Amino acid sequence: MNKKLLTLLIVVFTGLLFLGVGVLTAADVPDEVTIENEGYKKDKKGPVKLSHKKHHAEYKVACTDCHHDYKDGKNCWKEGDPVKKCSACHNPLKKQGKVKKLQNAYHKNCKTCHKALVKEGKSDKAPFKKCNQCHAKKAK
Ligand code: HEC
Ligand code: HEC
Ligand code: HEC
Ligand code: HEC
Repeated sequence: MNKKLLTLLIVVFTGLLFLGVGVLTAADVPDEVTIENEGYKKDKKGPVKLSHKKHHAEYKVACTDCHHDYKDGKNCWKEGDPVKKCSACHNPLKKQGKVKKLQNAYHKNCKTCHKALVKEGKSDKAPFKKCNQCHAKKAK
């Protein structure tokens, strides 16, 4: 095989490889997530739909505003790292040291940001008061 052709082939294949990786990572980040954990003392409320993609693409919320992994008190999670379920660390039944109970972790994360937006007059519809703006009706 001549050298030029070989180089061309290598370039094309590396390109394809990167394209594949790019497509994979894009597909890994869900457009929407339905949050519905089990293991609460009582399941009182219906599932919560989060417009995941909109939150980062349109509302410009950084991944690290929601995803974290702490080392020495600092968030060391960065984009591209694997994402664990919040429930992997936040227990649905009890607070463990500084690590909040699962329900409180979600509420603190979602509502704190929304409440600040409304208070600052940046939004009139970020939900934090009305339960049914986040929670769907519970299936009977
Ligand atoms: C900004 C969105 C948001 C709002 C507003 C909100 N919640 Fe939640 N809440 C969540 C998320 C997300 C979860 C986690 C859901 C899960 O794990 O099933 C959750 C979980 C819960 C849970 C534990 C899981 C369950 O289904 O029992 C309870 C109880 C709850 N919320 C009550 C309320 C009540 C009461 C209100 C209104 C005062 C409210 N929430 C408003 C987002 C919200
Ligand atoms: C507004 C908060 C928020 C933002 C911003 C956000 N995420 Fe998420 N993401 C979540 C929640 C909540 C879940 C569901 C976690 C669970 O079920 O416990 C999730 C789930 C995921 C999952 C799927 C994990 C699985 O178990 O299937 C991936 C991957 C992910 N996020 C990556 C990202 C990346 C990359 C960014 C930034 C480009 C990002 N997220 C921005 C809140 C957010
Ligand atoms: C790898 C384990 C891990 C995962 C996964 C995780 N957390 Fe945490 N989270 C922690 C730890 C540890 C802390 C306590 C950090 C500290 O204060 O030192 C914490 C703290 C928090 C806090 C309190 C921050 C503050 O301002 O006081 C919130 C809110 C929270 N997590 C929400 C979430 C949500 C929502 C998810 C899922 C999208 C999630 N966590 C996933 C380990 C985790
Ligand atoms: C750091 C800020 C931030 C965090 C954290 C955050 N949001 Fe939001 N959220 C926004 C902004 C900005 C809007 C758009 C408000 C507007 O358009 O007025 C929004 C809007 C929404 C809406 C209504 C519009 C839509 O796209 O569905 C829902 C429902 C919602 N968020 C759910 C959640 C849930 C559930 C969580 C926690 C898992 C969460 N948000 C965490 C910033 C945030």
